[in-house]
Amino acid sequence: MRFGSRLAVNLDFLGENIDSLKKLCPQNNIIFMVKANGYGHGIVEVVRYALKKGINEFGCATLAEAVNLREQIPDQQFEIYVFSDFNLNIEAEGDLFLEKRIIPVITNEHDLKIVLSNQKYRFFPLCLKFNTGMNRLGMSWDKSGEIADLIKSNGRDSVFHVMTHMACASQSHREHPLNIKQRERFDEVKESLKSRGLTIESTSIANSGTIEQGFGLEETHIRPGLMLYGPSSLDESIRHLSKWNGKIISALETEIIKVRSIKKGEPVGYGGTTATKDGQLAIITLGYGDGLSTNYGNSEMFFKEYTGNIFGRVNMDMAQILFPADADIKEKSTIQIWNEDPSRFLKLSKQTQMIPYELFCQISSRVPRVYLESRDS
Ligand SMILES: Cc1ncc(COP(=O)(O)O)c(C=O)c1O
Repeated sequence: MRFGSRLAVNLDFLGENIDSLKKLCPQNNIIFMVKANGYGHGIVEVVRYALKKGINEFGCATLAEAVNLREQIPDQQFEIYVFSDFNLNIEAEGDLFLEKRIIPVITNEHDLKIVLSNQKYRFFPLCLKFNTGMNRLGMSWDKSGEIADLIKSNGRDSVFHVMTHMACASQSHREHPLNIKQRERFDEVKESLKSRGLTIESTSIANSGTIEQGFGLEETHIRPGLMLYGPSSLDESIRHLSKWNGKIISALETEIIKVRSIKKGEPVGYGGTTATKDGQLAIITLGYGDGLSTNYGNSEMFFKEYTGNIFGRVNMDMAQILFPADADIKEKSTIQIWNEDPSRFLKLSKQTQMIPYELFCQISSRVPRVYLESRDS
């Protein structure tokens, strides 16, 4: 566990993002995606806070994440969906879904048949995901008629939720051919289920990139992840189309444990990278063991009015930042790798060549998560 570094999660900012999202999509119910430990921010704290803000449906990737969430927050009612990692062939896993009231997102006919043919699942909500072009998980969109017949022939006449997932949500929804095709195919899926007499209780198609562009809001639900943690997920070329202006809910903070003046030509760190100019070298207590990967090499870092760059090799436990020679940098100062400013965060994403999702998720458990919340929230 780190002493000098922390991921400070500002729950008030999460609250502001939730309020902004509700303004943007007043008609939609929200399934808040909290997989991968709440995109690195701490699933339990994020969900507890979101519940206070009136969100009561959440998306996990694995059954274990879902069970943990249910067990950590036993005192409140909310829905949990598991999107990918579970195995209904294992009897005990199926029982966990029942016992803990967790909804599996069914993505293949094999699982669907298990649910339809087994008496113990007779009240199980059918949540179906269709593949409309992403070609990852999901039942094929052009088999929706057969799937509807299978459901009807097993005595069910309603489906709890029907969804699909967009492959290119960060690209234009108006112009990108796959985005247009996926939406058309999803409409066909819904039509085909309805035309065979199935009632569809709820539907969703939109993740952050889709919501940001104002698409997919005709469905009952939206499934935002990234945007609620702050950043836009749109490709830089179309970011101007985004209706989103979120605050990054976390600040990655670290301590400067050593400052040394360095002369042009002197070696720095492992491999002895040669300083190309005189400067003030700040050693920070974050390295790749904490999730500050070698991709951070050369990225811009800010302290007071000074701009420096990660210099030389990132180590397991430390990294070096080279500031200008006249910079007033003191040992024991705190420096923020990112903060609530989305443009700074997205610049870091570009410089490190890591998508925002990755920047968040790779912060390791060695970095303590600290939660900030105003008293009146
Ligand atoms: C099925 C599904 N829906 C919604 C999301 C949320 O996506 P985003 O974080 O881009 O909003 C994800 C995340 O990958 C997902 O897998």
